[in-house]
Amino acid sequence: MPEYKYSTLAVHAGQHPDPQTGAVNVPVYLSSTFELTGIGTDRGWDYSRAGNPTRDRLESALAALEGGLSGHAFTTGMAAIAALVSMLRAGDHVLCSRDVYAGTVRLFDQIVSGYGIGIEYVDTSDLAAVERAMRPNTKLVHIETPSNPLMVLTDIAGVCRIAHAHGAEVSVDNTFLSPALQSPLALGADIVMHSTTKYLNGHSDGLGGALIGSKPEHKERFLLIQKAAGAVMSPFECFLVLRGIKTLPLRIRQHEENGRAVAEFLSTHPKVSKLAYPGLKCHPQYDLACKQQRGFGSMMSFELKSREEAARFLKTIKIFLNAESLGGVESLASHSATTTHGSVSEEVRTAMGINEGRIRLSIGIEDKEDLIADLQQALAAV
Ligand SMILES: Cc1ncc(COP(=O)(O)O)c(C=O)c1O
Repeated sequence: MPEYKYSTLAVHAGQHPDPQTGAVNVPVYLSSTFELTGIGTDRGWDYSRAGNPTRDRLESALAALEGGLSGHAFTTGMAAIAALVSMLRAGDHVLCSRDVYAGTVRLFDQIVSGYGIGIEYVDTSDLAAVERAMRPNTKLVHIETPSNPLMVLTDIAGVCRIAHAHGAEVSVDNTFLSPALQSPLALGADIVMHSTTKYLNGHSDGLGGALIGSKPEHKERFLLIQKAAGAVMSPFECFLVLRGIKTLPLRIRQHEENGRAVAEFLSTHPKVSKLAYPGLKCHPQYDLACKQQRGFGSMMSFELKSREEAARFLKTIKIFLNAESLGGVESLASHSATTTHGSVSEEVRTAMGINEGRIRLSIGIEDKEDLIADLQQALAAV
């Protein structure tokens, strides 16, 4: 596509009218197989695991939004990460942000390490620690920024400089900000990963994941893993994400406005401590957030005094739903120690700084005054 601005790309990239019928929405091609035109010849598709017209449209939209060479859609975010590490071989070494989605840790520690791939967690917000942890066999540095749930930022350009000097690639989980607010490839990263389940879909009605590569070898490898392992996004889920992407810039604007208002409110509340939101000037990485992000998003977390206080808060909150996940139009609140980090031992959780009173909020697009009033009444009950 020509050099269109972001909101135009969101509506039009990969979403041109159907050439056959003129339908303005991408048709959902619910077909596992495609009629061939002869022996070994086809109209572009032969079997949906290898390629599907609806998925092709989503994949080109994702590549355009992230400024990448190719997009690849998977059944879930975790399937996308599994496809990412399929680029590695036994004996390779991966550095991963320490403060990362616990599902990523589960996949790395319980599955990937069994293939003879070394996984090491490092505080990637500390560039000196990243430099020290690089090894001759480090092939990939996988970072999540901002991180979950402590909203710790990693300097993407800084990590890329270090990794590239050592011959390693950098992949960035861009789920928390979406391509609307952060462009890792433009900062030097090699691969972007998304759980499309979150902001890209935006309506909490589908699971999905994506990888966006910047090099021909990524395209080749990710097409192969899609065809060989088969964890591809279904045509209907692709349609839902395509539909969600059209309103991504609009939704993000409201998420962002509400996020800032809620964070301001919580920052002065006497029962709230250790509020983590990069849009507050008191966040230790506020300057980095301003440098590498185009906004602060709508994810944040804070501490109450105990698990009992957290339970009371979650029981009393009304508009916010006590549910895992994030990035949908509805506001969610969740108890980090038993949800996203439930599979992490208490010792490791405490070392990470996630205590029993930590609550994570995903701020939706409702009216911000209603959201603040809801938080006020739930905190009053604590
Ligand atoms: C930052 C992040 N990455 C990856 C995932 C995994 O995505 P999915 O649930 O679509 O497999 C999640 C899920 O919560 C997440 O928050």
